[in-house]
Amino acid sequence: MDYSVEKELIKIENLNFQIKDKKILRDVGNDRFPFVIHDLVFKNNTNCLGQVVAIVGRSGAGKSSLFRLLTGLVKPTSGKVLIPHASIPDKYKEVAEGEVGFVQQNYPLSRNQSVISMLTQACKMGKISKTDSTDLVKKYLNDWGLFNQRNQYTNQLSGGQRQRVAIIEQLLCSHHFMVFDEPFSGLDVGNIMEVKASFRKIADQDNINTIVFSTHDIDLAVEIADLIYVVGFEKNAQGEIIEGGTIVDCIDLKKLGLAWKPYCPEHKELSNRICEKMLLAG
Ligand SMILES: Nc1ncnc2c1ncn2[C@@H]1O[C@H](COP(=O)(O)OP(=O)(O)O)[C@@H](O)[C@H]1O
Ligand SMILES: [Mg+2]
Repeated sequence: MDYSVEKELIKIENLNFQIKDKKILRDVGNDRFPFVIHDLVFKNNTNCLGQVVAIVGRSGAGKSSLFRLLTGLVKPTSGKVLIPHASIPDKYKEVAEGEVGFVQQNYPLSRNQSVISMLTQACKMGKISKTDSTDLVKKYLNDWGLFNQRNQYTNQLSGGQRQRVAIIEQLLCSHHFMVFDEPFSGLDVGNIMEVKASFRKIADQDNINTIVFSTHDIDLAVEIADLIYVVGFEKNAQGEIIEGGTIVDCIDLKKLGLAWKPYCPEHKELSNRICEKMLLAG
């Protein structure tokens, strides 16, 4: 498919992140593996428009930390996470909390509110008119199988249901760029299929919609993403693991001709290659 690469939506420059004296992330966004997510514009107006970017890595590699940095919840020890300035064209600024929509892993959702009132509030934050919001919330509740739970409080929902409420909340109040940490963990097979289909739907609704999600399920990443970053550990010349996760590979499925295609043997081969690389990286 023909597409052009437009402006940078988010980028990381030489980021290091440390908690006390423990290195969590090391040299993310370097010359070898630049971390830049561009806005892509597709030239022929087919049904594939938005982007889905996956961050994969083993447990403990630093995915959740990377997402907290990407969304401005925590500040890097050094380096920068940059997003476009809201009012000055071509100017970038460091991300601040609340500027990037974020569904966290184990999202707490413990607010003392019913599902419907939470989502109505999200519409308000997303500047959706009152007239539109009633229909929109109803549609999302139906699409995501939550209509019967609309009057329940979020602490009365199952883990999977809470996850879905958190996703809808971000869809309603964020603008086009959304980050999801492990959105598939804790969901059953049916819910996984639903969320997968919804990701594609969100991405394809508008060519500026971009979803970034993390997972340890490589097959799933290869199936639905068009760009994959692998987070892992590197080894020094003595074969010892260097402290702190970093980007160890970046795979552009568009260039491989594997994006926006039903899962095929080439996807499986790629998935196996990424798994091997992750295991080698410790
Ligand atoms: N608040 C914290 N204090 C100390 N270490 C932490 C903290 N949060 C995360 N870590 C450590 O950072 C590393 C990366 O964790 P995390 O970002 O949650 O990885 P992932 O999401 O890939 O499983 C782990 O070794 C974890 O123990
Ligand atoms: Mg995590």
